Amino acid sequence: MTRTVVCVPTYDEIESLPRLLDRLRAAQPDVDVLVVDDGSPDGTGRYADERAAADPRIHVLHRTSKAGLGAAYLAAFDWALARGYDVVCEMDADGSHAPEQLQRLLDAVAAGADLAIGSRWVNGGEVVDWPLSRRALSRGGNLYTRVALGTHVRDATAGYRAFTAHALRTIPLADVASAGYCFQVDLAWRAVRAGLTVVEVPITFAERSEGVSKMSGDIVREALWRVTVWGAGYRSSQLRSLLGGRAARRTHSRAGSPR
Ligand code: GDD
Ligand code: MN
Repeated sequence: MTRTVVCVPTYDEIESLPRLLDRLRAAQPDVDVLVVDDGSPDGTGRYADERAAADPRIHVLHRTSKAGLGAAYLAAFDWALARGYDVVCEMDADGSHAPEQLQRLLDAVAAGADLAIGSRWVNGGEVVDWPLSRRALSRGGNLYTRVALGTHVRDATAGYRAFTAHALRTIPLADVASAGYCFQVDLAWRAVRAGLTVVEVPITFAERSEGVSKMSGDIVREALWRVTVWGAGYRSSQLRSLLGGRAARRTHSRAGSPR
């Protein structure tokens, strides 16, 4: 029996979390839930504890301060791997990721994917009620990522995912330094470079109806900086191997050519 856990990072999500937990438990009654709360001032962590006290499938990981989405997920992955889960999922607390669509990701993992990404930017993917500015940021950020890193992934910043435990043990999580949302790009790219099977399945991303996004200028700047540094490293290593290959072919042909 495959054991699956959905990790839900929260910071000030008291308006959204109750409904998300209700929907997720109804849509996937055999899946566990881990709420990872960064000391939300609005009482999200206390509420999660109340739900966990009444439901053995709900667990809570409390953290003392808001340390970023990446740090929250890294702590969640450690927690899940230590407890022997086979599949570990990412889902936002604000309802942007429909729990009713989780089965698509689980099916992709069951069919052999190491990482299934719920993608807004593949055929069948959709975005509802998202401001034009956020659409442009996501589209532009993903295009920049694809050009800089040469990945096939069309929605590398997406936060709706299912990883196999094998994938999380293969990706060097200890090397991941991304704190903000570029954590999503970081992990997708590391999975691709590790030769893992990364697939995208279409999902509908709906802008939250309660609370506020934690997206910030710092998060955007960190993403821009990190993707640029990763891209420069990747492209220069490509150039080095291209030039190295040419030099080797020249040496070889000189050795073979008559004196
Ligand atoms: N524990 C914790 N700590 N949770 C956090 C933090 C943090 O520092 N920052 C954000 N979260 C949680 C939020 O509470 C929410 O559950 C989820 O992470 C997503 O945060 P949002 O603020 O709703 O993100 P968004 O809707 O603006 O951005 C979406 O699109 C991004 C770009 O595609 C999210 O899906 C991101 O994951 C995605 O990368
Ligand atoms: Mn959101």
